[in-house]
Amino acid sequence: MSDTLFSINGKIVPEAQAVVPVTDRGFLYGDGLFETLHAYGRTVFRLDEHLARMRTGFKVMGFDPAPDSKVLAKWVAEAVHAARYPEANVRLTVTRGSGARGPSVKGKLTPFAAITVTRFKRRPASHYTRGVDAVMASFRRQESSVTANLKTTAYMEQIFARREADAAGADEALLLNNAGLLCEGSASNVTLVRDGALLVPDPKLVGALPGTVQRIAAELAEELKIPVRRVGLGPWSLRECDEAFLTGSMREITPLVKVDGRAIGSGKPGPVTKRLIAAYRKLVQRECPGYRF
Ligand SMILES: Cc1ncc(COP(=O)(O)O)c(C=O)c1O
Repeated sequence: MSDTLFSINGKIVPEAQAVVPVTDRGFLYGDGLFETLHAYGRTVFRLDEHLARMRTGFKVMGFDPAPDSKVLAKWVAEAVHAARYPEANVRLTVTRGSGARGPSVKGKLTPFAAITVTRFKRRPASHYTRGVDAVMASFRRQESSVTANLKTTAYMEQIFARREADAAGADEALLLNNAGLLCEGSASNVTLVRDGALLVPDPKLVGALPGTVQRIAAELAEELKIPVRRVGLGPWSLRECDEAFLTGSMREITPLVKVDGRAIGSGKPGPVTKRLIAAYRKLVQRECPGYRF
């Protein structure tokens, strides 16, 4: 039995029919956007926030016409309901479609939307209780790139970074930007804790994807009266901080306890990170009826 359900332009189809035309600009040029969402039970957590980020991407990339968020939301919900998995990884990909060849996008193109809903395999509990490690990638992010804050389907930098993590047997690779500031992971945001305050690398400043979970973690921190500072952080900040954590829709909030073999703080998940993990789980349970961690 397959563990993935496929939807193409809003129609649920068998895997064999879930295909992309060879003229598609997403396939040819990476001219598309995607979102990875987490469905807890039948509820897609913060679907609106993911669609808002995608909408910003459509605007910046000049999608004309841009797909309607309400229609995309309906297609995602229909796919998740049809899949009936207890928990799922949902990938929504929207390309500019087929048509113009080469960089020019003159003329009306019809966007192409693909959704996959895959049965979710939870990471080992030890990732949350003992934490994970990362390496620093050997290359840098261009923070002034027009796509630095977008989740485009051109993910080569992230693939290069993750290959370095895999080669080192690490869970994630962190990128610095050209200014030497801490940017993000290959598929996660990084947040530090120092002297009881959250230090969040400002996505616009450092050229990172504005992560939904990193923002939610900051909001939860504020509710818990933990100060939040949006800043630019040098690589040395990893040595000076007390705790660090990675965020992403699939990994949620994961303690980061070692980078390049050097322990962060005590080398164990810290109290602020633990409080935020608990608060995040509570929030998910509140917003996703019937789901329990
Ligand atoms: C490069 C990158 N940064 C950050 C994130 C985290 O984003 P979010 O918290 O919205 O899942 C992702 C998610 O996949 C990502 O690919």
